[in-house]
Amino acid sequence: MSAPTDAQRMEKIVSLCKRRGFIFQSSEIYGGLNGAWDYGPLGVELKRNLKNYWWRVMVHERDDVVGMDGAILTHPAVLKASGHVEGFSDPMVDCRLTGKRFRADQIPQQSGTIFRYEFAREAAPTDRALEALAHLAETDAEPKFNKTRIASSDALDLAKRIVERRKLSVSLPNADPEAIELFFSHLGDLLRQHPRSQWEEEFASAYSVPQRTICKDAFSVLVRPGESESKAKKTARAFYQKRGLKLPVVVFLPPADEVKKTQEFNPENGAELTSPRPFNLMFKTNVGATEDDSSVAYLRPETAQSIFVQFKNILEVSRKKLPFGIAQIGKAFRNEINPRNFTFRSREFEQMELEYFCRPEQGMELLEYWKEERLKFYENIGISRSKLYVLTVPNQERAFYSKGTYDIEYEFPFGRQELEGVAYRTDYDLSQHQKASGKSLEYFDEETKQKFIPHVVEPSAGVDRTVLALICEAYAEDEAPDEKGKMETRIVLRFHPRIAPIKCAVFPLLKNKEPLVAKAKEIVDLLRPHVYVFYDESGAIGRRYRRQDEIGTPFGVTVDFETLGEKDAALRDTVTLRERDSMKQDRIAIKDLPSILISRIR
Ligand code: GAP
Repeated sequence: MSAPTDAQRMEKIVSLCKRRGFIFQSSEIYGGLNGAWDYGPLGVELKRNLKNYWWRVMVHERDDVVGMDGAILTHPAVLKASGHVEGFSDPMVDCRLTGKRFRADQIPQQSGTIFRYEFAREAAPTDRALEALAHLAETDAEPKFNKTRIASSDALDLAKRIVERRKLSVSLPNADPEAIELFFSHLGDLLRQHPRSQWEEEFASAYSVPQRTICKDAFSVLVRPGESESKAKKTARAFYQKRGLKLPVVVFLPPADEVKKTQEFNPENGAELTSPRPFNLMFKTNVGATEDDSSVAYLRPETAQSIFVQFKNILEVSRKKLPFGIAQIGKAFRNEINPRNFTFRSREFEQMELEYFCRPEQGMELLEYWKEERLKFYENIGISRSKLYVLTVPNQERAFYSKGTYDIEYEFPFGRQELEGVAYRTDYDLSQHQKASGKSLEYFDEETKQKFIPHVVEPSAGVDRTVLALICEAYAEDEAPDEKGKMETRIVLRFHPRIAPIKCAVFPLLKNKEPLVAKAKEIVDLLRPHVYVFYDESGAIGRRYRRQDEIGTPFGVTVDFETLGEKDAALRDTVTLRERDSMKQDRIAIKDLPSILISRIR
């Protein structure tokens, strides 16, 4: 079996997600809403397990962190103070041919030859020239055209009749605008030389260059190595057609320039892009019945701001001392220019954020501490350390107020990408909100009797990105024997039991043997209070195992005739416990199942 490429692997993952009910395109039956995703029955379990584990280690297992759940609708003053209204934007560019929008900084660097076009002129006859052509055709033949019916697509038919009837020595053109222009210009000259009415002169002057439409927009195209030069002209013609010319004759402006590493052209078609301009990523809405500036609110672009805004309230009610943190899991919204890579970059997503407040002198040390804690977290949910990378964000790319930022990245099939940022944000956020609101957000130190604005270290992780990383990490294909012992490909999601959507499947060996079914259902009732179990009696047992392997269920319990004590009384009330990855089966007493499963899942 040859290993699938990264692109094939990603395709298989996306298709499995839909086939088995992890993730669906949002509003799919209406064509889908770009950048929004719905989690199905298994996806929601996986997501909840991830969030619950994060909450457990970040809040419940610590003395120094409390939680909150803030509103999504956010007062504009909050986001003005935080800098989001002014500065939360990405540079955006549009393809000048298709209008498709890109993030300027995500355009790949390309090399090739730039063909510049200065302008284009219309080769199709003007209305007046068409009218003249119709008259010229009518004088020689049965009137076929009248003024109201002349379409420019009829022009060549009319011209053909004139050429044939008058036996003019001019050959009919192919479909190229240049050839058509040459033909009509030549025809005008010939008709002018042998006039029979005023229409010959009329046609020639109506077809002259000054009478025809000109589009003065300049445009350029990048022809990449391996592409033909004619592609540039074709793309330019399409550009001028979009601007209203029917048959554009494009005017090339030499020379064609060689370039390297340009980001000014659409990577999909070579067409020129507009200059970058900022695009604010926040979703704006109106609160209440009036839709004017006074009712504007935003959907929060990060969960962090409500933590800063509630800092004082939470400090007072929790009676925490520095350092301490406030944690939140919730939705955030960004009108991303290019949602992509499945759920990786979405417009609606969830974040798991901790704002860990501290004294200024503790900031750098805590930044290191939280980076290590967060790496441990990913390992504890089954993401191999060898697939995680820590990027130290360089000074020039860090937010101006941050004294240090790490990005924790994961090696996705589509490349190494950020899962989480761990940033030392200094006292920037609290200072901004104190200044803008006029309310003190200072901390009073009982020991030193000093007041100051705490600094903060923020580990900020994406739920959806982590879910995607978990699925990518878990996806595997191996071989397992089928019913007849023949080896076949097995798709298996090797989730850590802690985050697997279903923890244990329970199977009666045969569904038509009432005592087996009754015992299996008893086991379901026994396990249900402890773990999420799934009962399955349909199909051959091997098939049932395969179905559970494909959704990552780590354990399978099978009730067989030994369980009923039919073959050996000593085996009564025992079952086989199958482990997903090794496919090994152990015989276990039913009464021990809850404790064994709990110890392996927690
Ligand atoms: N409060 C800090 C903050 O929001 P961020 O790096 O912009 O920092 C934190 O976002 C995390 O949120 C990212 O590491 C990522 O996991 C997740 N995230 C950000 N934008 C996202 C998007 N468009 N789609 C999915 N997840 C996103």
